[in-house]
Amino acid sequence: MNPIRIEEKKLINDIEISQCLHISNNLFGIHYHSKNYFLEKNLIIVIALNEDEIVGFFTYIISKNKTVIDCIAVDNKWQRKKIGTLFLEYFFKNIVNPKDKLVAYAWKVDNQIPANNLNLKFGLKKVENLGKIWKEECNKSFQCIQFKNTCQCECVLYSN
Ligand SMILES: CC(C)(COP(=O)(O)OP(=O)(O)OC[C@H]1O[C@@H](n2cnc3c(N)ncnc32)[C@H](O)[C@@H]1OP(=O)(O)O)[C@@H](O)C(=O)NCCC(=O)NCCS
Repeated sequence: MNPIRIEEKKLINDIEISQCLHISNNLFGIHYHSKNYFLEKNLIIVIALNEDEIVGFFTYIISKNKTVIDCIAVDNKWQRKKIGTLFLEYFFKNIVNPKDKLVAYAWKVDNQIPANNLNLKFGLKKVENLGKIWKEECNKSFQCIQFKNTCQCECVLYSN
């Protein structure tokens, strides 16, 4: 049996935020996400737990005409164990209606999009490569783990 529990957080506490930040710092770089990001009023946070340890988080925003998947992040040690799949199963079973317009953003680095298979599996198709949208902030407002002399990552937009 998969020991991972998926839980949506109505109220997230400081310990949970620091666990999410730890994952984000390792995957994306320091200050890519801040404590305030996890406290944003419109952001809905879903976490994956192994006992009391957060091993991944998934965030989305519902607005009037669309739902945006903002971030999906699974701790390095826990990747490729179907936690990303569990997040999207939860999302499609409990949150989204078939008629909703969905949008998701994914990183492309070294010609690879880690979230590509996951998005395709759940009917989210590539719509547009938005290019290096972090260029002005990369290694300035956050320390990107991919930075090599210049910004490396492209943002790819997916939708249903
Ligand atoms: C993308 C990510 C969330 C997937 O989570 P996961 O728990 O590893 O996903 P799953 O185990 O459910 O695998 C789902 C699919 O994604 C593929 N996948 C997982 N990690 C991958 C990676 N690093 N590179 C390429 N494909 C990957 C798997 O092969 C799988 O496809 P399959 O059906 O062929 O097996 C996770 O790798 C991650 O956090 N990556 C870094 C952060 C990131 O890029 N987030 C997305 C943009 S915000």
